[in-house]
Amino acid sequence: MVNLQTQLGHYHFANVFMNASGVHCMTTQELDEVAASGAGTLVTKTGTLEARAGNPEPRFAPLQLGTINSMGLPNQGIDYYLDYAIAFQAKHPEQPIFLSVAGMKPEDFPVLAQKIEDSAFTGLTEFNLSCPNVPGKPQIAYDFDTTRNILQAIFAIFTKPAGVKLPPYFDLAQFDEVAAILNDFPLQFINSINSLGNGLFIDPATDTVLIKPKGGFGGIGGQYAKPIALANVRAFRQRLRPEIAIIGTGGVTTGRDAYELILCGASLVSVGSILATEGIGVFDRLSQELTAEMAAKGKNTIADFQGQLKTL
Ligand code: DOR
Repeated sequence: MVNLQTQLGHYHFANVFMNASGVHCMTTQELDEVAASGAGTLVTKTGTLEARAGNPEPRFAPLQLGTINSMGLPNQGIDYYLDYAIAFQAKHPEQPIFLSVAGMKPEDFPVLAQKIEDSAFTGLTEFNLSCPNVPGKPQIAYDFDTTRNILQAIFAIFTKPAGVKLPPYFDLAQFDEVAAILNDFPLQFINSINSLGNGLFIDPATDTVLIKPKGGFGGIGGQYAKPIALANVRAFRQRLRPEIAIIGTGGVTTGRDAYELILCGASLVSVGSILATEGIGVFDRLSQELTAEMAAKGKNTIADFQGQLKTL
């Protein structure tokens, strides 16, 4: 019998699937819908210290093979999501939940960390170091010194389970350097990858960009991202301490895509673009397809093939 159960540290999940932060998780209603779906767990929209309206619309567009977005971190503020997560854990003690947070400047991160540390939250915190869409703010995790400094500031305070959401990297030297930083901290997980930052799509009928913010530049997700996501999960799995689990994100559209991220080393698989375009029913479809793929390959558990990618 195939079973999709997985674990991350001492947290157990009924199946490997979850939403990617930003998709279907802005409000308590959306979060409740993911919780009631076939997803194994859920993550909140990235919360900042203060609520934000985000970038002007249109700021999201579906594409042939994925999505482009420049939302600009619209969110209800950390307190809203922290309250939701604490209420959620009381109602569902068996289902660990992820809280995603980000600073608008490096000094915000220890403030967020202190708030969560001082709260009753017992789940996992994902520090988002990779939003590509706030005008004038580079993606933090492309700046390795700032990344180390932020992690130092967080872990000077934080004792609860934590991870980081990373942007895609493209050079093996970058993987070496980033993994060396991450390995110095008591991280429970990384989430790799955020959207491919600052892509550009053009409407052929009008010769116009598809989204308004930043002159049309936006984060690309969906099938365009899959090979990059596979490579990032694989490259980090080869370099990180084994205790640091990986949430694989990027381009999962089918159960086979999830299977491949797990082959590269993922423990959980999050879905963004396909959740945005297909809706909440996607989780049941993905579980069915992953179950069928595992059965066809003679794998009964996630551990039977996790990280077992073959090379030539
Ligand atoms: O693609 C993304 N869009 N990644 C993030 O981390 C944030 C989000 C947004 O709000 O722009």
